[in-house]
Amino acid sequence: MSTSMTNDVPAVRVQGVTRIFAARKGSGVTALDDVSLTVAPGEFVSLIGPSGCGKSTLLRLVADLDVPTSGSIEVFGKPARQARIDQDYGIAFQQAGLLPWRTVAGNIELPLELHGVGKAARRARAAELIALVGLADFASHYPDQLSGGMQQRVAIARSLAESPSLLLMDEPFGALDEMTRERMQNELVRICAETQAAVVFVTHSIPEAVFLSNRVVVMSPRPGRIRSIVSVGLGEMSGRGEDLREDEGFFHALSQVRELLHGDEAGINPTGVRGVETR
Ligand SMILES: Nc1ncnc2c1ncn2[C@@H]1O[C@H](COP(=O)(O)OP(=O)(O)OP(=O)(O)O)[C@@H](O)[C@H]1O
Ligand SMILES: [Mg+2]
Repeated sequence: MSTSMTNDVPAVRVQGVTRIFAARKGSGVTALDDVSLTVAPGEFVSLIGPSGCGKSTLLRLVADLDVPTSGSIEVFGKPARQARIDQDYGIAFQQAGLLPWRTVAGNIELPLELHGVGKAARRARAAELIALVGLADFASHYPDQLSGGMQQRVAIARSLAESPSLLLMDEPFGALDEMTRERMQNELVRICAETQAAVVFVTHSIPEAVFLSNRVVVMSPRPGRIRSIVSVGLGEMSGRGEDLREDEGFFHALSQVRELLHGDEAGINPTGVRGVETR
């Protein structure tokens, strides 16, 4: 856990990052082209953009699960590699990635175990998180006894186990039904307000991005670039409740992000009837 961080050190600093995947033939795929992005401590930033625009690639680079072709990435002022070794962040990715031989509780306790947290404290923390994600009746079940959405909730609980100062989340709510999804969004907002965690959050849902974020990064595909960044300006995390979803500012930000995204659709689907006036 990062204890020595100051407010001046960004949670994430991505500078001029390009990632080119080699192809068997031809010149390869430029998944990201000269992407720069800084995320402040405690800031919630969403990445949104069409499938294949490099969102997961960017998150994987920050998590040091992949390395950039060029450019640099720092997490709390350290190289991404060091931050991974120090486990400065929690991750919940598109695939839940649970250990099949461990129970729900066992999976959630894993990061605590790796950090030498004692058994009783681990149990207590896991129980708290299991309740948070609504799986109290399933603590001793194994992942293959759960639905996809339930597995995803276990992964989210696990990512929160150590109250990390940074959460990297790749479509963590993608497999959830609408009601559970909104409940988890509300919970995430509450957790972020409580723990002051910074979050980089990938989603395909415009309302989800707007509801959760301080800033929404709109990406464009091939090569993946940042098209625009929308500052949502809906105020402090701690003040975000259900009624925000009915707020005028909320709808305004929704249409801003939607219009920026539809710049792509106009290209992909030239017969589309929707007019694109922005940009
Ligand atoms: N390991 C890899 N090897 C080769 N190409 C890759 C690899 N990972 C990603 N790509 C390519 O990089 C591009 C971006 O992929 P990425 O998974 O980052 O997209 P994404 O924005 O997360 O899409 P989605 O919304 O569908 O999850 C795609 O063209 C993909 O084919
Ligand atoms: Mg992805």
